[in-house]
Amino acid sequence: EKKKIVLSAIKPSGEITLGNYLGAIKNWIGFQDEYECFYCIADLHAITVRQEPRLLRKRVLEILAIYIASGLDYTKSTLFVQSHVPAHSEASWILTCNANMGELSRMTQYKDKTAKLKENTSISAGLFNYPVLMAADILIYNADFVPVGIDQKQHVELARDIAQRFNSSYSDTFTLPEAKIPENAAKIMDLQDPSKKMSKSDDNQNSYILVLDPPDVIRRKIGRAVTDSVGVVNYTDEQPGVKNLINIICAIKNVKPDEVVASFEGKGYKEFKEYVAEVIIEELEPVQKKANELLTDKSKLEEIYTEGAMKASYAATKVLRKMQKKVGL
Ligand code: ADP
Ligand code: NA
Repeated sequence: EKKKIVLSAIKPSGEITLGNYLGAIKNWIGFQDEYECFYCIADLHAITVRQEPRLLRKRVLEILAIYIASGLDYTKSTLFVQSHVPAHSEASWILTCNANMGELSRMTQYKDKTAKLKENTSISAGLFNYPVLMAADILIYNADFVPVGIDQKQHVELARDIAQRFNSSYSDTFTLPEAKIPENAAKIMDLQDPSKKMSKSDDNQNSYILVLDPPDVIRRKIGRAVTDSVGVVNYTDEQPGVKNLINIICAIKNVKPDEVVASFEGKGYKEFKEYVAEVIIEELEPVQKKANELLTDKSKLEEIYTEGAMKASYAATKVLRKMQKKVGL
């Protein structure tokens, strides 16, 4: 029986955060035995916003090192860089011609991102088309599952809509993909403003924890994380800062929020935050050690992504050929 297919990606537009790690990478590890997995570094997505070329290339290797250090096994899963597989761009154009302006205008991430820009700032067409490229990423592997954080759920649904439309206007071509959202790490929040998600593109460094942050930095950032004046560790929407820290613990230790709340009964935020910091450090230290080790051998990492691109191209090109044939190319 053919294994189900998993595809997911992170864009190298900044350093990997704890949100990316818990919402995506950590969730990916468990799929590797049961499914055929493709894990991508989405550099084409990163350039929807202008990047410093040298830094972008450096981050690609860094993310690959973090993937492997976190437990993604390149002998089982295909680890690759998006731009190394031209089928993504080619499929994206065909899908662009089968997507509507209207449905793209309704994407909340696009609306949020452009709302934040100052007036008269020009918005790249790439930012608008981003979800179509993401649909191509998913559909050219005939992915069944797309493990992502909740912020990407709408984009996976769009990929599904586009696939369905293509299938019905031509003939059956694509598998309809489904998002897989982790329970407690669906949306790790900003440490300074727990009403919005933690993001690597935030200007305030205290807003996020980076996977490669040293222990003292993690302690400091968690120490400064916004809480509230209640002073009691509860799991409730009325205490979003505390709730977020509990979710972080649950995602790392695989426990339930109630258990965390119970273990901090009668204790204050200082003690609670010290514990949160230690849990994160304990989780990330081995990843950091391994990632830094891997980064000392760049040619080995390049070998891994070259091999990954070959495997990914082989799978993607088969589907791309079908697409081309159906539209008459
Ligand atoms: P970012 O918004 O940090 O630039 P990406 O767009 O590269 O992240 O997303 C990579 C993956 O990480 C996606 O699956 C996304 O849903 C997930 N992700 C990003 N931020 C968070 C978060 N704060 N909580 C949970 N998952 C997240
Ligand atoms: Na995102």
